[in-house]
Amino acid sequence: EKGGYDYFMLKEIAEQPKAVADTLLGRIDAGGSLTLDEVRIDDSELREIDKVVIVACGTAFHAGMIAKYAIEHWTRLPCEVELASEFRYRDPILGGQSLVIAISQSGETMDTLMALRHAREQGSRVLAICNTNGSTIPRESDAVLYTHAGPEVAVASTKAFLTQLVACYLVALYLGQVRGTKWGDEIRAVIRDLSGISAAVDRVLETMEPVRALARSLADKDTVLFLGRHVGYPVALEGALKLKELAYMHAEGFAAGELKHGPIALIEEDLPVVVLVPSPRGRSVLHDKIVSNIQEIRARGARTIVIAEEGDEAVAPYADHLVRIPATPTLLQPLVATVPLQVFACELATARGNEVDQPRNLAKSVTVE
Ligand code: M6R
Repeated sequence: EKGGYDYFMLKEIAEQPKAVADTLLGRIDAGGSLTLDEVRIDDSELREIDKVVIVACGTAFHAGMIAKYAIEHWTRLPCEVELASEFRYRDPILGGQSLVIAISQSGETMDTLMALRHAREQGSRVLAICNTNGSTIPRESDAVLYTHAGPEVAVASTKAFLTQLVACYLVALYLGQVRGTKWGDEIRAVIRDLSGISAAVDRVLETMEPVRALARSLADKDTVLFLGRHVGYPVALEGALKLKELAYMHAEGFAAGELKHGPIALIEEDLPVVVLVPSPRGRSVLHDKIVSNIQEIRARGARTIVIAEEGDEAVAPYADHLVRIPATPTLLQPLVATVPLQVFACELATARGNEVDQPRNLAKSVTVE
């Protein structure tokens, strides 16, 4: 049932192009507009929303962090994203015009379920983004947008994450579409780009051998750091989470702009630091900042592992290891940039002799608070 792979995780990583394509299927019409009828919240109600609040745990929370950038950019609605386990203990301000989005692969995560119950008690509409048909979270929500990743068996989430991102982009674009923003042209262009994203993920998967070799060469390390900006920041957090749960290594993700506020003190000779580089096209200021961050850490001895778009030559002189990903609009980049981090963590876990599909102390679905 592992389809010829040694681990479910490897199979699920390989299934990502299909999972992404399946999650888009039937949701973009022939005219290039989105049809999300299944969401069952009236467009008139969606126009009245005054803020979006996302609740989730673990990897799903990282998808929510990325969704915040997309929602705020394309809809101009304020968007908060919060760990479900923190959310309901802080007396959040919610009302009838708040849209709460609960993201969960399993649909059974107790913290997320309790957060959505709290939101509904405050009168908010709850939209679930979920991978498991008929599970508790969608049953208790006002509406659901299913991800079509298929069953995810490995404890470490991979294909579910990519499809959560796709679902979040669809919701963000749909809100932009029904509410009408000045980004109309960009929204149409991004919908087109999304249609090609499954092929881009496939291309990443075809070029992963050097990443595996690099991972094996780092099996004796104690620490790996991950840096990113903008949507690269949640991707850095996700890369670090994968490494913790699979390789049992100390791994931390940072917003690169925070380096000087503390984390740069951690940099020492030969410390592996993975850096997510945003596209040099579009918001190039982000790109310039990251290039100087890479220079700063390299000058202090870090071994830089740079994940950058094809054709981005500016980073090459400062990369000890360069991992290329296809060019995508910045907001969509997490769909391709996360894949090498998954492969990296899986290979490191194997090299360290760890159980890949069933890491110690972890359960696939956390049904206790
Ligand atoms: O089923 P859920 O998406 O609600 O699960 C949330 C987290 O428990 C989950 O993403 C966890 O962090 C994974 N093990 C990460 O790989």
